[in-house]
Amino acid sequence: MCGIVGYIGNKSALDILLDGLTNLEYRGYDSAGIAVNVDNQVELYKAEGKLQNLKDVTALNRAHIEKSTIGIGHIRWATHGAPTKTNAHPHSCNCGRVAIVHNGIIENYKELRAKLEKQGCVFRSQTDTETVAHLIASKFANTKDLAEAVKLASKEIEGAYALCVIHQDVKDTIIATRRNAPLLVGIGEGEYYIASDVPAIIKYTKKAMYLDDNQIAVLTPNSMKLIDIDNNALTPKIEELPWEPVALSKMGYKHFMLKEIHEQPNVVRNVLAGKLRAIDENVILNEVTLDKDRIKNLNRIQIVACGTSLHAAMVGKYIIEQYCGIVVDVEPSSEYIYRKTITDKNTLVIGVSQSGETADTITAIRQAKSKGSHILIITNRPDSTMAREADSLIPVSAGIEVSVAATKSYMAQVISFYLLAIYMAEIKGSVAVQDLERLKKELVLLPQKIEKVLSHKEDVQVCARKFANSKDFIFIARGINFPTALEGALKLKEISYINATGYTAGELKHGPIAMLDESMPVLSILVKGGVYEKILSNSEEAKARNARMIALTNSEDTKLTDLFECIIRIPEIDEMLSPALAIVPLQLLAYYISEFLGKDVDQPRNLAKSVTVE
Ligand code: F6R
Repeated sequence: MCGIVGYIGNKSALDILLDGLTNLEYRGYDSAGIAVNVDNQVELYKAEGKLQNLKDVTALNRAHIEKSTIGIGHIRWATHGAPTKTNAHPHSCNCGRVAIVHNGIIENYKELRAKLEKQGCVFRSQTDTETVAHLIASKFANTKDLAEAVKLASKEIEGAYALCVIHQDVKDTIIATRRNAPLLVGIGEGEYYIASDVPAIIKYTKKAMYLDDNQIAVLTPNSMKLIDIDNNALTPKIEELPWEPVALSKMGYKHFMLKEIHEQPNVVRNVLAGKLRAIDENVILNEVTLDKDRIKNLNRIQIVACGTSLHAAMVGKYIIEQYCGIVVDVEPSSEYIYRKTITDKNTLVIGVSQSGETADTITAIRQAKSKGSHILIITNRPDSTMAREADSLIPVSAGIEVSVAATKSYMAQVISFYLLAIYMAEIKGSVAVQDLERLKKELVLLPQKIEKVLSHKEDVQVCARKFANSKDFIFIARGINFPTALEGALKLKEISYINATGYTAGELKHGPIAMLDESMPVLSILVKGGVYEKILSNSEEAKARNARMIALTNSEDTKLTDLFECIIRIPEIDEMLSPALAIVPLQLLAYYISEFLGKDVDQPRNLAKSVTVE
């Protein structure tokens, strides 16, 4: 949430900052701003709304701003204070000599603000961040040492933050520090880049250092000093970033979301590579460090996640219970952390997260870790905070996901759950070998089936045009595809703002059926298998209430044409693996409806890709 960039070196900072912010736009896009130092003067440029507005503002003064070889920038997802120009970062102090950008929430900002106001600080914004700017300025007034000022200020701040600070009187220095919010320093030749996330800097350098909590980096064009909050010198741990700049291109697709949907066949291949080597060989999952006896003795698994990752976790519950016979509870992280949870050393706690930075999930896994549970993390970001908390880490290898609406990372998470379930079932001997072999064979065939769906999108496009103007949408399914219904509905509401809800088909008649009339589309996920007839009969009930019926099915049953106005077909697939295939047309449906309505597909309103605040 919110993106930070910084640059210090021998090049002009302006384009590096704007470019970095462009690649962090998925983190928020309410407003944006930069601070530079031109002719020994700190200058702020800010704009409300999309980043383009800031680009337009800086274009008016480009020749002047370009002179600065130091700068910090910010793209905002508003928490405290409306998304206005005044509340946009960077923030400054009374004299305007300090400029800071911040990601996170300062919990004690009201107390700090009251204290600073008494000392004469004049606040311009409603943000929590501005308190930090005044606080650092007041510390600097006493110490004349920017690193010391940041260190003293951070001792008074409660909450989460990643901060970048410049000061007019120390014109060749940027200070970067963090606590419970991600920040990394990219290392170039005579230059340093700072960013909340890799995409902002990968074009410039692959060498970087991730800051840990309470570390302070003091950067000049030719030096980097790392200290902790008690002034101890630390040795920077420099890493090679595992990403390629090409991941950030749309590769000819109109939107990142469409590109990422089309990447899914290869994502499945990547997740399976090296783990599922042959149908008659056991799955290899060296990433799971829990020893075999502990796996055999597990009495419970708890999975914590949010949003789309939560839906992947729900598929995970279904397959682990089915194949491993272990009780699995799935809970939104934001609920898990505010109640008494029962975990012990025989409980495996799994955190699922695309970003690995979702604040609620980080808190949930830390809570479970403190009770002695083994923590397994399934994430697309092996470089994330969550990955670093893991006892076992399954990186899902979907590649950087830029579109705010998660698609390929969901696929990768779901496939990882299949591998985990098979791996544990093979250790426990909890299911017949033939059943596991059938599932493995289906997994190997899955990429081709997804390709088939992607090459026959016409049904989906027709359906999207027909239903794009609906105000509401209902998705129904049963069993293992209930999470598919929830995820299909989430995708649609996220990017088209249509009020969409997923229900278990059997629940329809216990209340939701009252909403059905000739204006309500009901999409039934009708995959052949144990609950096919049941969903069909629930669909008949909905049709009898005049709902407009859509089927997503792998059945050739001729009676479907009478019942359904639109039929979206998927290839034959074993019911147990069907969530991984059935979700693809639903992602496409949401995409085409959003595109048809002219919505901002990749950056839907009010959302941010990485939710780093609780
Ligand atoms: C939906 C979406 C969000 C995220 C949720 C959790 O398309 O992207 O619902 O799934 O914010 O984020 P991660 O997976 O990064 O923990």
